[in-house]
Amino acid sequence: MGRFTLRLDPIIKYNVKKEKVVGIHKKNNKFKNRKRIDKILDIEEIRKILGNQFVFIFNEINPVLQDLQLEKSAKILDIGTGNGTMAVTLALNNYKVITGEPEDDESEYAKQDWLELARKVKVEHMITYQSFNAEDMPFEDSFMDAIFILGSLHHINDKEVALKECFRILKLHGMVCIFEPNSDAIKFIRERRSPTHPDAVDPRNYIQGLHFQLELIKLPFYDAHIFRKR
Ligand SMILES: C[S@@+](CC[C@H](N)C(=O)[O-])C[C@H]1O[C@@H](n2cnc3c(N)ncnc32)[C@H](O)[C@@H]1O
Repeated sequence: MGRFTLRLDPIIKYNVKKEKVVGIHKKNNKFKNRKRIDKILDIEEIRKILGNQFVFIFNEINPVLQDLQLEKSAKILDIGTGNGTMAVTLALNNYKVITGEPEDDESEYAKQDWLELARKVKVEHMITYQSFNAEDMPFEDSFMDAIFILGSLHHINDKEVALKECFRILKLHGMVCIFEPNSDAIKFIRERRSPTHPDAVDPRNYIQGLHFQLELIKLPFYDAHIFRKR
């Protein structure tokens, strides 16, 4: 039980624990194990400071994060710093996080002012930036409790190697939570922001031979894939 094998022949077996569709509105929250966002974080205050765009994504990813019920002492990595949305969301939940992206990434998605975002809500002390390439990460085996990849997997060249690296640095029962935009989201991003934005990917296509158990949560903008190391 719990073992999960991905085969690339026509029979693809997944151990999908559950697939659920959740709404983003805080009053329409279907996660039973967490307190409502507005009891912990004042979402309107965050909106005033960080703006609608941050809150839009925050409202999608925060329920998933809270439902994971990570220990406050958990060792957490965020791959692909970008604007810092994931790192700041973790920090707002009182988690310390290491975040990074490749030093030589000159794309429009890298070297954003994530620190300014963090400073605005006074969580910069919770975030440690360290540049790294997900394909060869400077972390020991079995070191991390949780890894988050928000909108970054499709930007990584060798996704299979990157996910192998995630598996290596994760503790047993640790998890990697990958948020990839769904097809509507990609359409929206291309129309509104970046016409050349690459397609999203399905992380399940890149985990051959890794013993992960999968939970898939479909959100309005993202598909959240939670892989637990078995
Ligand atoms: C769209 S941004 C991600 C947004 C970000 N996660 C957030 O919370 O705002 C894509 C990120 O992927 C990073 N990236 C691309 N290739 C990478 C690699 N090989 N290893 C680590 N990060 C990578 C980019 O540098 C960039 O930071």
